[in-house]
Amino acid sequence: MCIRDRYQSYLAQAMSALEHACARFLPEESEVCRAARYSLRGGGKRIRAVLVLSVCDMLGGNMQAAEQFAAAVEMLHCYSLIHDDLPCMDNDDYRRGRLSCHKQYGEATALLAADALVTAAFEAVANAPTHPQSRVQAAAHLAKAAGARGMLYGQELDKHYETVHASESELLELHAHKTGALIIAGVDLGCDAAQADDALCTALQHYAAELGLVFQIVDDILDVTATTEELGKPVGSDAENDKTTFITLYGLEGARSLAKQHNDAALAALADLGPEADFLREMAVELLTRSK
Ligand code: IPE
Ligand code: IPE
Ligand code: MG
Ligand code: MG
Ligand code: MG
Repeated sequence: MCIRDRYQSYLAQAMSALEHACARFLPEESEVCRAARYSLRGGGKRIRAVLVLSVCDMLGGNMQAAEQFAAAVEMLHCYSLIHDDLPCMDNDDYRRGRLSCHKQYGEATALLAADALVTAAFEAVANAPTHPQSRVQAAAHLAKAAGARGMLYGQELDKHYETVHASESELLELHAHKTGALIIAGVDLGCDAAQADDALCTALQHYAAELGLVFQIVDDILDVTATTEELGKPVGSDAENDKTTFITLYGLEGARSLAKQHNDAALAALADLGPEADFLREMAVELLTRSK
């Protein structure tokens, strides 16, 4: 199967896992659950879920557990996006081609919907159809990636550098947390579902850390070069919020060449793996050259 078809097939698996998660963990006919489902079903590239599924598949692991872990990481990511769009954060009115959660449901409901998603993510991990050790490891990985040592810290730094100039190393630290942490969680959860050995997990973590940097540098580039229609979210948001980005530090070409360097590093991290890692290699290239 070619790489595009494999991506589509993992995507279909991820969508089906998310539908199960909605039915099982967010079934109430309450406004909060409606808002959570609205944001969760709103589209998106689902790359974190695809990482969980492809890593587990590559390692011959338990795909049923991986599906539930994939739904969990996407629920957690979706919570972070709902908060990211709030007026007190980036104040963005559109996400994934439609009104952001707080524009559609109001701020209070959006806040609670995000809370519901983060809680449901851990419920999904705790109830995944695999043995307890795998579930505990996955919960620990997800919590670390999401919390005050992970994505949340990145969001804190992101706010901080709206008012204070960031150097390149500070910006890399910001990106590594804000975006890298949940992308690393994607491969960690895939390894957890497969009970992979430590050396392999470490190589895949290095790959994902570099992939995360590429992903966020390209996100910053697209904020300048793409259209709102292409992205489904407002462009120019970073400049409007006075963010320090790689564009503000090095300009467009500098940011592009840095993204390429990190892409090379992501591929180098897979050097000891054979053709079974070709999907991950292709995915890195796709994310470097993406236009939305
Ligand atoms: C957007 O993430 C936020 C960042 C971390 C850059 P994605 O670009 O993965 O968003 P979706 O899930 O595809 O909408
Ligand atoms: C958001 O980064 C990252 C998280 C939600 C953790 P951005 O603010 O750059 O994401 P977009 O551009 O709004 O998707
Ligand atoms: Mg933001
Ligand atoms: Mg934002
Ligand atoms: Mg952005």
